[in-house]
Amino acid sequence: MARETRDGESRVALVPELVGRLTALGYEVALEPGAGRSALIDDSEYAAAGAVVVDDAVATADLVVSVQPLEPAAVRTLRAGAATISFLPTGVDGAELGLVADLRDVGATSFAMELVPRISRAQAMDALSSQSLVAGYRCAVVAAGMLRRFFPLNMTAAGTVPPAEVVVLGAGVAGLQAIATARRLGAVVKAYDVRAAAAEEIRSMGAQAIELDLPTLEGAGGYAREMTEERAAHQRELLTPHVAAADALITTAAVPGRSAPLLVTAEMVEQMRPGSVVVDLAADSGGNVEGVVAGEIVRIGNAQVWGGRNVPAQMPGPASRLYAQNVVNLVTLMTGEVAGRAAFAPDFDDEIVAGCCVTHAGVVRHEPTRLRLEGDPA
Ligand code: NAI
Repeated sequence: MARETRDGESRVALVPELVGRLTALGYEVALEPGAGRSALIDDSEYAAAGAVVVDDAVATADLVVSVQPLEPAAVRTLRAGAATISFLPTGVDGAELGLVADLRDVGATSFAMELVPRISRAQAMDALSSQSLVAGYRCAVVAAGMLRRFFPLNMTAAGTVPPAEVVVLGAGVAGLQAIATARRLGAVVKAYDVRAAAAEEIRSMGAQAIELDLPTLEGAGGYAREMTEERAAHQRELLTPHVAAADALITTAAVPGRSAPLLVTAEMVEQMRPGSVVVDLAADSGGNVEGVVAGEIVRIGNAQVWGGRNVPAQMPGPASRLYAQNVVNLVTLMTGEVAGRAAFAPDFDDEIVAGCCVTHAGVVRHEPTRLRLEGDPA
């Protein structure tokens, strides 16, 4: 396991309680010194679980697991034919394309956790879902913490305190978890999502589904499609009164491979009441709310607007545990037998393996990434 080096990344890719799963498969587990420290896990806990702590863990490994992609310098030290498993996003701004080229050029086999296909068999390896679960919970708790009033209804001898009204825009994995958490805290929750299936899912969480007079936007694989600017403007207009009535607004909308859709203008936020709060989980990818800044709280009109920045990393313990489960399940799938011994031997005919492989044997195998990096030779 590599030590995470990127600013703000406090999650780790392996936790001590899962070391035994890997050693039982026949692996030796090594980690760089201090690799778990940001998630408050000491080297001694990994050692007690059967791992070794060594300086050259990355350079000597057949498989390197991490949360963020390796640094280019670390890629250059990889053993011939070594494999890596991490998030490796190349979609929205192409940030990691250079690194993909490095991985290709050293002949590494790299797997991207965000490319694990979202099919039933891969659910235990689905890090997008596990990290969205953490982020959705965190969003609701941040909103509750920032709001200077109760979430729940309080009936006291002195009188009744009404519950807060929370509006959630985007009801995927994170949004549904934000709804569930806000409901547990007693808020009245209303939510909207463009997908047809979302209204039923919202209601099943105990929230009211906001029904807009707009067509739904179902894309491939159960995801949302990008809106036209005309539909986006109409959606914003119809959502304006719901946003204005909210004590807390939580936005979690995303479209895979695209910047976050702009759901709420600054003008809409300005109509919120004094003391209102806005929590934008999509701030890292451009934001659902106009004027949001990732990692900061800004004031727009009467509202405090919180921009999420690597939100799962704000709860490094549980986020690491869930991510590590996803990684270990993926490694288990990719463990086969070579010369009668258990070995890391991914079967590229497997839909999950093929789906999340980015580079292998000097070739970029993920076609959209290859096209962005190398262009179409045809
Ligand atoms: P996501 O993070 O890409 O997007 C979050 C939510 O934003 C989605 O529900 C999307 O519909 C919504 N959204 C996009 N544009 C919007 C707009 N203009 N206005 C309002 N909402 C908007 O999606 P996430 O949470 O990763 O998953 C979405 C869906 O993917 C799930 O509900 C499910 O159908 C499917 N899925 C399937 C899994 C499986 O089969 N293993 C696992 C997880 C998700």
